[in-house]
Amino acid sequence: MVFSSESAKLRAVCGKDKDVYAMVDTKYVKFPGRLVFVGFGSVGQGTLPLLLRHIDMPSDRIMILTGDERGREEAAHFGIRFVVQPLTRDNYRECLDPLITEGDFLLNLAVDVSSVALIEYCIEKGCMYLDTCIEPWLGGYTDPTVSASHRSNYGLREDVIALRNKYTQRGPTVIPTHGANPGLISHWVKQGLVNIARDLHRKADIPKSRERWAELAMKLGVKVIHCSERDTQVANPGKKRHEFVNTWSVDGFVGEGSQPCELGWGTHERHFPIDGSRHPYGCDAGIYLNRPGASVRVRSWTPNEGPFQGFLITHGEAISVSDYLTVREQDKVVYRPTCHYAYHPCDDTVSSIHELAGKNWELPEKKRIFLDEIVDGTDELGALLMGHARGAYWYGSRVSIQQARQLAPFNNATSIQVAAGVLGAVVWAMENPQSGILDPDDLDFRRVLEVANPYLGEVGGKYTEWSPLKGRHHPFPEDVDESDPWQFKNFRVV
Ligand SMILES: NC(=O)c1ccc[n+]([C@@H]2O[C@H](COP(=O)([O-])OP(=O)(O)OC[C@H]3O[C@@H](n4cnc5c(N)ncnc54)[C@H](O)[C@@H]3O)[C@@H](O)[C@H]2O)c1
Repeated sequence: MVFSSESAKLRAVCGKDKDVYAMVDTKYVKFPGRLVFVGFGSVGQGTLPLLLRHIDMPSDRIMILTGDERGREEAAHFGIRFVVQPLTRDNYRECLDPLITEGDFLLNLAVDVSSVALIEYCIEKGCMYLDTCIEPWLGGYTDPTVSASHRSNYGLREDVIALRNKYTQRGPTVIPTHGANPGLISHWVKQGLVNIARDLHRKADIPKSRERWAELAMKLGVKVIHCSERDTQVANPGKKRHEFVNTWSVDGFVGEGSQPCELGWGTHERHFPIDGSRHPYGCDAGIYLNRPGASVRVRSWTPNEGPFQGFLITHGEAISVSDYLTVREQDKVVYRPTCHYAYHPCDDTVSSIHELAGKNWELPEKKRIFLDEIVDGTDELGALLMGHARGAYWYGSRVSIQQARQLAPFNNATSIQVAAGVLGAVVWAMENPQSGILDPDDLDFRRVLEVANPYLGEVGGKYTEWSPLKGRHHPFPEDVDESDPWQFKNFRVV
């Protein structure tokens, strides 16, 4: 393991403006409470060094409660208490009671630990909360006794929204789904909208409310937003036969890849998918397909990769961004963009998915998260905003494995983007401790990005003439809608 010097001066170049961030262990906020990590896998391990560097608090007020031994060495390196105690539906209150009190902070970075249960617990205790994915208890993503709709991220988000309605008095700040995506992606969407407005209309006023953001997206004519990601990290040794590898959680990825495929469903769409369903409850911003997301591919684009086919894995931002940018007139929805993930994981993970599908989605025993064995590659992740007068515009981050290792220990190019998102939102929460239950879209995007950007490598935007109709009908004719490139039908790979 290579450790970068903790006091090293960090430098990262920000986009085309070439702002250079210089940062020497800046403490953004002083925190008097205790901070409890639940789960300490790739995201937890990547996040800890950033929090130690930028939150002003004694390290003996931080502890880790987790499900296995992974990360024990890192915790020892930093002198952080580390306890292996898997939480279950039956024991979580008893386990957390001695550790959590009013004014503390619970970071749920575990898989298989119910976000809804822990959020409710934290609200009762007066404790702040953040996770990077709304997780159900173990087995919840594939429980055949639960409807596909309720196993979706839409259903899980509606369970969190129900808590908003149950606890009407504004309580401790609770931020579900704030890593990179979901998380930073919501802020890149906003930065992208402001940049397009600046380039088209020479003005870039920052909208001051949800309604104004939605109106801006509508006025610009944004029809589709992808969270487009291309991970090119390569490891040595690479994937072995009958082994599932990834650059972040294998369990987390296979869990969400097995959930129904989901997308925010825009008002411009004219071809409802034959395997699609609407949810008969809730905000109605999204739809789902009756198949696992890891079996559905879509065409997308990132600046370095150019065109690619990615998996349409369900993600929180697909619903929250579409919901946030909805314009209503007298309760009638008049505008909403389609929004979804288009994920090209590293090539060895693509090969792992292929093998997994061949085994009817049964995970092999051997699983590995690539970290020290990564020898090269980048993670390019951003918001691709399409359908406006300039066609398509991507705004996001590109981090190489070499940059990630210079920026912080215990990270790869994927985890550093997630950890940066967690850091940005934790700082924002500590600065705004009584804000109730939020979506990432509700946070001040400028503050979160200001804190996260130094860890995001190159951050910037790029226009492209690419559309999902480019180069089609080769080598066979295809069934596409030529009248509007931005129809979901044109993106979906059949
Ligand atoms: N929003 C984002 O950008 C983003 C990106 C990557 C991962 N994630 C999410 O972050 C979470 C963690 O991902 P990861 O890559 O660190 O996963 P990981 O598989 O590397 O680690 C999971 C951790 O959860 C712990 N755990 C499992 N069961 C537990 C239990 N019952 N009680 C306590 N701890 C338990 C494990 O011991 C392990 O430490 C997942 O929900 C994943 O979907 C979000």
